[in-house]
Amino acid sequence: PTIYAVTPTYPRPAQKAELTRLSHLFMLLPHLHWIIVEDTNATTSLVRNLLDRAGLEKRSTLLNIKTPSEFKLKGKDPNWIKPRGVEQRNLALAWLRSHVDDDRHSIVFFMDDDNSYSTELFAEMSKIGRGRVGVWPVGLVGGLMVERPLLTEDGTKVTGFNAAWRPERPFPIDMAAFAISMDLFIRNPQATFSYEVQRGYQESEILRHLTTRDQLQPLANKCTDVLVWHTRTEKTKLAAEEALLKKGQRSDGGMEV
Ligand code: UGA
Ligand code: MN
Repeated sequence: PTIYAVTPTYPRPAQKAELTRLSHLFMLLPHLHWIIVEDTNATTSLVRNLLDRAGLEKRSTLLNIKTPSEFKLKGKDPNWIKPRGVEQRNLALAWLRSHVDDDRHSIVFFMDDDNSYSTELFAEMSKIGRGRVGVWPVGLVGGLMVERPLLTEDGTKVTGFNAAWRPERPFPIDMAAFAISMDLFIRNPQATFSYEVQRGYQESEILRHLTTRDQLQPLANKCTDVLVWHTRTEKTKLAAEEALLKKGQRSDGGMEV
């Protein structure tokens, strides 16, 4: 099957480093199609150049939609924090629903730009059957070394999850913990991401439209292999750059960093 990897991304100092890592992973994986959705008012030359240089122009789709300012993280909202990537993932879903041929089996994976992914994860994803959602462990997330599905003794069904953070969620797993057979999105047109959910409920929000716990397909060696890590990049410190800018100078004049 073709795997469609959906990546929301936004401008910040480390963006090119993050996307370069991902683009080199795609160079190793010929069956992937990369849908990048920039959180900007127009596509940027930084991302266009990156796709060109990796030779991915034929198997990538570059879209853009800016998160409305009222939904960007701000101030003190008592009960819930604004989720990230909502607008961008929904635009990708609309693109997929209108461009993907429903007769051909394909898989959708929501691939954030800052995590660390093994090529082996994508081999596992291609085992996902029609009408199924595949699940696997994710390292370094939710306050644990690994969050993982708990399985029946024969390893064929999910009985629960080991999550420590909000374990009462319908699907207490990270975005990187699952991928979805495209036919489920065609059959369930109401399945979209939403701003109107509590913090950490984005994964449950999409999955509740598509599947149930006991229909999940466990992968990655009966959910014992860790093939993706929820790494987060440290915020870049630019005090010296700001000092230069005040003097009308910069370290990156004429360069794309
Ligand atoms: C966790 C999950 O891993 C995300 O999939 C989920 O969207 C997020 O929580 C959430 O609660 O909304 P976390 O590492 O906290 O992830 O989120 P980020 O990596 O900062 O953002 C997720 C994706 O959205 C990234 O690909 C990022 O580039 C993108 N993003 C983030 C935007 O497109 N615009 C933004 O303003 C912020
Ligand atoms: Mn992240």
